[in-house]
Amino acid sequence: MKAPSFTVIPGEVIHRLIHDNLAGCVDVIRTAYLAHDRKQTVNPASVFLRFHDKPNARIIALPAHVAAPVPISGLKWIASFPDNVKAGLPRASAALILNSHEHGYPFACLEASIISAARTAASAALAARVLVGRPSAGTLGIIGTGLIARYVYQFLAGTGWEIGRILLYDTDRAMAERFASRWCDPTRCKVEIAPDLASVLGTCDVTLFATVAPTPHVDDPRLLAHHPVVLHLSLRDLSPRLVRDAFNVVDDVDHALSAGTSLQLAEQETGTRSFVAGSLAAILDGRCQVDHTRARIFSPFGLGVLDVALGKWVYDRAIDHNLGHVVPNFFFELER
Ligand SMILES: NC(=O)c1ccc[n+]([C@@H]2O[C@H](COP(=O)([O-])OP(=O)(O)OC[C@H]3O[C@@H](n4cnc5c(N)ncnc54)[C@H](O)[C@@H]3O)[C@@H](O)[C@H]2O)c1
Repeated sequence: MKAPSFTVIPGEVIHRLIHDNLAGCVDVIRTAYLAHDRKQTVNPASVFLRFHDKPNARIIALPAHVAAPVPISGLKWIASFPDNVKAGLPRASAALILNSHEHGYPFACLEASIISAARTAASAALAARVLVGRPSAGTLGIIGTGLIARYVYQFLAGTGWEIGRILLYDTDRAMAERFASRWCDPTRCKVEIAPDLASVLGTCDVTLFATVAPTPHVDDPRLLAHHPVVLHLSLRDLSPRLVRDAFNVVDDVDHALSAGTSLQLAEQETGTRSFVAGSLAAILDGRCQVDHTRARIFSPFGLGVLDVALGKWVYDRAIDHNLGHVVPNFFFELER
């Protein structure tokens, strides 16, 4: 057996490898969803560490195993400190540990805020493609214009989406203005900042929620009367009644109906999960047909298997290009 080694891969390398091949990332996520659907994964419940003195902060552990195409395990350890944003730092920070399936040893540590944002955005781009039926949006609405919103926009724009107009809304208008000037290309499409949430959700054909709302704050059925596609990544914005009446797609039913998500609240109110049409993998696999006569809502809990699958893809490319830092003697006592 080869002596275990340990490689650190910094964010700079990960950023380059991911942004050089956004379509490749979407393929990795598609394959991971299908593997999960075929029970070729193990994805235990996430563990939430919370604090007495910082009720809005948390650190989440997401352990996961992916058996195919190559068996690999890992753990994403991701912190969410929303007050960071006021200090000019991103809300989330993360590390991903990858473990060998041969001997269990951890063999790599990767900066994982980029991997996490990329796997989230890749899953949203994949879901949008499937739920819209083609890679185009007349008007793309973005509610909550932070890092995740930026990644979703970059994945859509970078994987061939035609977007006629972008409508932005953030409770902090300066965030929306910054998003427009820093990340949107005005030569590509018109970008506007909306005065309120209703003007976005009530008019756009595709709307992304990437807020940090802890409980539902949107409850007007008229806002979904035009049957939009809603990428409900922040999971807790829509009221249970809006969710209940829509065509709901998840990544994993058990995960998506947990941790106080809008879907879980809807289940608690109705006593049933029948308002969930199925998983994205079931649609990809042809077992579930998209209903275009209702609002189509994608609510992905965010599976650790996606982080492990994308992390391994990034690791392989980093090794191929000699971009990892091997830590000499990281494992030192190798004699029993
Ligand atoms: N489902 C998944 O797989 C997944 C993965 C990663 C992140 N997320 C979620 O995505 C969300 C966004 O993450 P981020 O890193 O971009 O956060 P961020 O803090 O960088 O950005 C959030 C933005 O939302 C704005 N906002 C807050 N409440 C709002 C409201 N009610 N209406 C409009 N705007 C509002 C804030 O002002 C801020 O600009 C978080 O809720 C996070 O948990 C989901």
